[in-house]
Amino acid sequence: MTLSVELLDDMNRRREEILAGGGADKLAQRHEKGLMTARDRLAALFQEATFQEMGTHVQHSARYFGMEKKVLPADGVVVGTGYVGGRLVSAFSQDFTVVGGSLGKMHAKKIVMLMQAAAKLGSPIVAFKDSAGARIQEGVDALSGYGDVFYQNVYLSGVVPQIAVVCGPCAGGAAYSPALMDFIIMTRKNAYMFITGPEVIKAVTGKAVTMDEVGSADMHASVSGNVHFLAEDDTDAVRIVHKLLSYLPSNNSEDPPHHPSPAISLAEDDGMRALIPDDSQKPMDVRGVIEHIVDPGEFFEVHRSFAENLIVGFARIEGMVVGLVANQPAVRAGALDMDAADKGARFIRFCNAFNIPLVTLVDVPGFLPGVEQERGGIIRHGAKLLFAYASCTVPKVTVILRKAYGGSYLAMCSQEMGADFVFAWPTAEIAVMGAEGAIKVLYSKELKAAEDPKAKVRELAAAYRAEFASPYMSAGNGYITDVIDPAITRSTIALSLRKALTKRELRPPKKHGNIPL
Ligand code: HXC
Repeated sequence: MTLSVELLDDMNRRREEILAGGGADKLAQRHEKGLMTARDRLAALFQEATFQEMGTHVQHSARYFGMEKKVLPADGVVVGTGYVGGRLVSAFSQDFTVVGGSLGKMHAKKIVMLMQAAAKLGSPIVAFKDSAGARIQEGVDALSGYGDVFYQNVYLSGVVPQIAVVCGPCAGGAAYSPALMDFIIMTRKNAYMFITGPEVIKAVTGKAVTMDEVGSADMHASVSGNVHFLAEDDTDAVRIVHKLLSYLPSNNSEDPPHHPSPAISLAEDDGMRALIPDDSQKPMDVRGVIEHIVDPGEFFEVHRSFAENLIVGFARIEGMVVGLVANQPAVRAGALDMDAADKGARFIRFCNAFNIPLVTLVDVPGFLPGVEQERGGIIRHGAKLLFAYASCTVPKVTVILRKAYGGSYLAMCSQEMGADFVFAWPTAEIAVMGAEGAIKVLYSKELKAAEDPKAKVRELAAAYRAEFASPYMSAGNGYITDVIDPAITRSTIALSLRKALTKRELRPPKKHGNIPL
């Protein structure tokens, strides 16, 4: 057979029908609503002319409810690879205009095919989720398809970074696929995510709730903690994907894109000293400290609105990529609670899986006291943070800025928990417990007998801080590398990181550890 005009026309006609998705009207309606189509999202993600579609002509295999007569373009999901910032990325984008982007057997097969390719190519995966869930007409085939996708999500966890963009409905068990990935970006516009929605909740519990209460992007970003990044809309979501990818390696056998500055700078930064409040009881906003440590504009916060007493995010320090973990004394005095421990542990484990060094900034009075915390399992949650730090083998640099008390001193990556370098500012207070609490235990009789017990507490606490909780006590016992002038914090971290980039740490072989869940 020769290549005739008819054959080419036929090929082009077929392609055009597929590119039209659910039809020109439905595509136009989306644009009117300010939403991107499935293909718009991929076009925005990839560098121009680099997208190669896979499985363009795949068709569903449903045979019930009249489905045998229906043609579903691309079976409701556009799948393929392309370049982002010069690096290969695999992506799929569910097309809501084709039976609500619902997932059936072949739709799932396309996604699985892409994920298997990503494993071989060693490329990150980006998934645009805009789907009404299991395709009802396909029954158990749809459920099986979800199972296949979940299996791949888990199989690839820790092998290639997986990023979900929830930009439409994501309901029922379908929400578990993004939850099994590394990061969820969710748009404020058009997206909701829940296991059981308002109707089911009303039917089962009798309680009337709104969609916003149980499934909005804002709720998930600030309350449930399911969402790592809030995006205003599709364009903003793609911007976040680009930024996030810029900090990540393509897979677990690569280092992140470090570009250490050629010159080693030992510059001093007097501005850092000025950030420290005179009164050690006054909270210090750690964001200011972070700004002085990272390269200008190079802090990319993860989970910003959730558990704000602990800040986590990616950063560059003299061109080296790091995962940064910092107590935030401006919120709940920086005390660690269940959510903060979960948030920190998950981030630390991601960094370890993808060879990203960790920098930890410590200013923590302890674990948050309270009945709610104890009954909620702060022991189990806090243990995640300890487990995460102790089990990760990437370079770890810790700086104790001010308070580091009790178990939280260890939970914020002390030397014993595997830190390669631990520096302390002269303002650091390191001890079993805070000064006031310790004084009340140690001097209860003296305080009862004192004429002015409050003044006595202040006096004894000051002495405790100056002598017993002093960083020189820890330094003298070899628990910290050095006490440093805050002005050289950035340069000290950077120099330590350079040296630690070649770190190799081998542990006994095992199937996996048993992190407290
Ligand atoms: C097949 C579906 C569908 C589904 C919607 N459609 N949901 N087709 N299976 N699950 C079709 C509609 O018939 C319609 O087709 C098109 O998609 C758009 O749907 P609309 O209802 O017109 O859109 P909208 O008003 O925007 O409402 C969207 C929606 C609603 C809120 C998502 O469609 C809805 O509630 N759908 C059912 C969701 C659901 O219960 N899914 C199963 C979840 S359980 P036409 O041809 O008219 O354009 C699940 C289990 C997974 O997913 C378990 C994994 C472990």
